[in-house]
Amino acid sequence: MARYSNEINRRKTFAIISHPDAGKTTLTEKFLLFGGAIQTAGAVKSNKIKKHATSDFMEIERQRGISVATSVMSFEYKGMLVNLLDTPGHKDFAEDTYRTLTAVDSVILVVDSVNGVEAQTRRLMEVCRMRDTPVIVFINKMDRDGKNRFDLLEEIEKELNIQLHPMTWPINSGKDFKGVYNLYDKNLVLFTANTKATDEDTLRIDNLGNALLEERLGEKDAITLREDVELVDGVHGELDVDDYLAGKVAPVFFGSAINNFGVREMLDTFIRIAPIPRSRETSIRHLDVEEDKFSGFVFKIHANLDPKHRDRIAFLRVCSGKFERNKYFHHVRLDKDVRFSNPYTFLARDKDVIETAYPGDVVGLFDTGNFKIGDTLTEGEDFFFTGIPSFSPEIFKEVVNKDPMKTKQLEKGLLQLTDEGVAQLFTQYGGNKKIIGCVGELQFEVIQYRLLHEYGASVQFNALPFYKACWITSADPKKLEEFTRFKHANIAEDKDGYTVYLAQSEWFLNTERTNNPAIEFHFTSEIHK
Ligand code: G4P
Repeated sequence: MARYSNEINRRKTFAIISHPDAGKTTLTEKFLLFGGAIQTAGAVKSNKIKKHATSDFMEIERQRGISVATSVMSFEYKGMLVNLLDTPGHKDFAEDTYRTLTAVDSVILVVDSVNGVEAQTRRLMEVCRMRDTPVIVFINKMDRDGKNRFDLLEEIEKELNIQLHPMTWPINSGKDFKGVYNLYDKNLVLFTANTKATDEDTLRIDNLGNALLEERLGEKDAITLREDVELVDGVHGELDVDDYLAGKVAPVFFGSAINNFGVREMLDTFIRIAPIPRSRETSIRHLDVEEDKFSGFVFKIHANLDPKHRDRIAFLRVCSGKFERNKYFHHVRLDKDVRFSNPYTFLARDKDVIETAYPGDVVGLFDTGNFKIGDTLTEGEDFFFTGIPSFSPEIFKEVVNKDPMKTKQLEKGLLQLTDEGVAQLFTQYGGNKKIIGCVGELQFEVIQYRLLHEYGASVQFNALPFYKACWITSADPKKLEEFTRFKHANIAEDKDGYTVYLAQSEWFLNTERTNNPAIEFHFTSEIHK
């Protein structure tokens, strides 16, 4: 057995993702209650951005600051150490969420039974699909009059392009919601509206023909349940856990997070089937999670907006070996050895300095500018982890320097802020024009504010008519060169010197793809790694 097997085998690192308002925060809280990490409902300082603050980025940043402490919530459940990585709910911080997904081994996707698949659900799932991340689906708000359960499953399968496997089955919805039948444990869990962690009314029914069913549900619902279960069992049979682990099949649970209903069934299944920390690919070789030597990568950087505290926290996911406080590790990109005297743990019970961390854990490293997203630490070997791409921004603006005396500061600020992953920086082809690309409008406000307050650089942004950046490559360098020259107004370089095509619209993009079969258009930067 490898040296750290015991530690690895008891860890599960995951994220809960959803379209805003589907119930991610509520579900998180219920998990923490089950895990004993909090004692009362309402105790989670969620990083959910309050609705009234959506136009006030300072307030949002303040709330995000608070949320650093809850960025990773760890709890124990049934002998397992669960690391739950929080993801920002606000869509303007979607890129933060995408990157967090590179640091987890599985996800739970919350879908609102009334709204079904929503914009953000779709995009988050695309990111999961890129990495074949195992997904468990929680269909929430069954206490509301939701869509027909069969239609909903079909919609999710079609829109998210994943095969679903129901693990529980609901009896009605809305005010007629009576509970779920657990297809795995073969018991009926009757719905009671409450928010306590333990008061579930469970009735074991080994044989659905049992007349108890009529007694508890009434004749009509008992018949429907029998028919539904026969149909569902007939189509799906037993869950093949390997298909789940390969990201091909997603187990589905129905429930109501606010009523803490259906949550325990899901958590128990999660503990049973969700993957332990997995091995990963690097730029030079496959890295086995059980290797003795330490390695890890930075997937998120959180800056402190308070100018008096210029420190940042880099979030490091441990991928192999043992992280130790005060031990020198190799910072691959900078080719230098670094050590950390105050690595920060997010363990809910003891938010303090940690001595050691193992694969699946996340460590907070105080940083003064040494890290950028994707940076790798090792015990000496030179590689970086693949699968940590940049995604195409959706809003593009030209940076206009309002104070030529501060050009140097501006350049430094732009480089550092984009290293943190706040935005992406492009330089126009053959020119100097700097273009910032973000996922949300708010980011521009954040950048403008930080450039001024942290670097003394005053800028203005001019909107540009682009909607996507595609990294372009070609097997034929001449063709690429021609395309670049011909389309120069739409061409830029990213920070690493790779060429991107900035498309005005989907129509333009499709036209260029059709007209230039020798050019490949990629929606993430991963292609270069
Ligand atoms: P999010 O993090 O995904 O954005 O969602 P969150 O948990 O904050 O839930 C969004 C809203 O949905 C909240 O109401 C929450 O109480 C409600 N909710 C969550 N689960 C259920 C459920 O199972 N059934 C029903 N009916 N509602 C649910 P809110 O009014 O926006 O906020 P609050 O004032 O209640 O906090």
